[in-house]
Formats: sequence, C-alpha cells, structure tokens
Amino acid sequence: MPQLSHQHLLGIKDLTNSDIDLLMSTTAEFLQVLQRPIKKVPSLRDKTIANLFFENSTRTRLSFELAEKRLSADVINFSASGSSLSKGETLLDTVNNILAMKVDMIVLRHSSPGAGLFLAKHLPRFRHSAHARIINAGDGTHEHPTQALLDAFSMQEVLGPLKGKRIALLGDVLHSRVALSNILLLQKMGAHVEVCAPPSLLPRNIQSLGVVVSHSLDATLERADALNVLRIQEERLQVQHFPGAYEYHQVFGLSLARWEKAKNKPVILHPGPVNRGVEIDGKLADGPASIILDQVQHGVAVRMAVLYLLGQTGGSAA
Ligand code: NCD
Repeated sequence: MPQLSHQHLLGIKDLTNSDIDLLMSTTAEFLQVLQRPIKKVPSLRDKTIANLFFENSTRTRLSFELAEKRLSADVINFSASGSSLSKGETLLDTVNNILAMKVDMIVLRHSSPGAGLFLAKHLPRFRHSAHARIINAGDGTHEHPTQALLDAFSMQEVLGPLKGKRIALLGDVLHSRVALSNILLLQKMGAHVEVCAPPSLLPRNIQSLGVVVSHSLDATLERADALNVLRIQEERLQVQHFPGAYEYHQVFGLSLARWEKAKNKPVILHPGPVNRGVEIDGKLADGPASIILDQVQHGVAVRMAVLYLLGQTGGSAA
C-alpha cells in the first residue's frame, strides 16, 4: 500500500511529488465518502487524536475535528485558554502529558514558527511519546500545509492539472503562513506563482522563491487563472504597513468591478476568515467566481486524507 515519505506533516517543503499525488488522490476518495448518506468510515477507529490549538481558529479546528470523527478516531480538544500553560508548563511537558494518555496523533496550531518541528525532534526521547504523529495546523507566520493542500485541490477541481497554470496570491504575503505553503506546493505541482501586494507586505528577497512579484492588481488579474486572496494578519502586524483599511482596499482590494474588467476572469479563493470590504468585496466573495465554500468542504476531505495516510506510516516517528 502506498505511504507518505514522512511520519509527520510539518510543512509542504517535506513532501515529495508522489506524496502530493497520493494526498490528492486520497482526498478525492474521501470527498466521495462525504457525499454518502453515512459519511463515516472505520479507518482510524483504533486511534486517538488530540487537537491542540494554542492560537484562535474556527474553520481549521472544526475541519480537523470533523475529519477525525468521519474516520472514527477518538478525539480530544485542547485550547490554550483555561489550560495549565498559565501555570508555567512548557509546550513539551504539556504534549508529553497528553501523549502519556495513549494519544496517537497531535494536531498542533501554535504562534511560534517551527513549534511542530520542535516537538517532532524532542518527542522521540520520551518513552510514552516516541510513536506520536504531528500535524502542523499553522505555525505562526511559517506554514499551514493542510490549507495549501485544500487550496490546490480546490483549484484543480476547477482548472484541471495545475502544471503551467498561473496562480496569484494577493495581499499580506509577509505575515501569512498560507502564502508560503501555497507557493511551495503550487510550484511542486508545476504552476507559475505570482505574488501581488504592496512592497511593505512582501518579505525581502521573495524573488528567491522563484515567484513573479507584482504591485499592480489589475495587471495580476489579467494574467491569473486563479487568485488566492489573503487576509491582512492584523494580529501579527508590528508596525503600520499601509495607511488604513480604506486605502488598502482602494489599491489592493479585489472588487467585483475590477474582477469583471479582467479578460481572464480568474477563479477566486480565500482561506478565511474573510474581511469583507478590506481584501475582497462581499459581492465577489459570494458570487459565482468564488470557490471559498468549496475550499471549506474540500478541507475536511484533505484532512481525512492526511490523518488516514499518517496513520498508515510504519515504525516509530523519526
Ligand atoms: C488562515 C490561518 O489561520 O492561517 N485561516 C485558516 O486556517 N482558515 C488564514 C488567516 O487567518 O487569514
């Protein structure tokens, strides 16, 4: 039976092309399961999964929980507020204690880039924790691999194979973990990736990732087959990167009129939560060009695929 090459999903950068193919085809199978009257399979009925969310989340947390339940896993949920973190416990101690309760997989959202990698490196030292699988559900500004997988899957459903397609990311590339994971995955899948943002919202040396850089939304709209609109990550802004939400919308906001003017009529994606009237107009987000809610639906199937495949990887976690 085909397996993933790694025992954790920490980031897109670890995935091989055959991992990506396997994840995409398994997602398609689970999407079929989700159309049935009984949307549940017994695949992970012997597994227990802990969702550890040290940062806020609506979609990702519920999507993982639903995916776990559809696979018949036992599920426990943890959020930072109300936990022993406020009593000074370290992340490693918290996770080791949870794993000692015979938990098999950890889904981790954390504000620190590399939090999942840190656990994956240190857990093998502990007798009760060496077996654990770690899934990164967003680590600070770094990566959000399952979001990128569901974005790519959703684009593929509309555009067909992504090889040679032009995909643009619009907005706060600097603070968005969705951006890096999208860039890495779409390039591995053979797409041409463009980023469109004010210079203040782009990382220095972004060109070194092999992306086209644009500061003109109208020009980007003319070229793109799909446009993934990113939220301004207000909670991560340290300084003022633009004068205000109104000014941002005037120059980099995606309005219906702007989209209608473009010859190409790109498909519109957004990882959510949407700030209507800032990065995108409500009319466009709700209109026929938008596949935002398809992304949400596909997210459950993608997470089922990730959990199922990691549950099949053999040996103790390396
Ligand atoms: C994204 C995230 O948390 O990184 N949202 C999500 O996972 N659905 C994007 C965002 O917060 O803007």
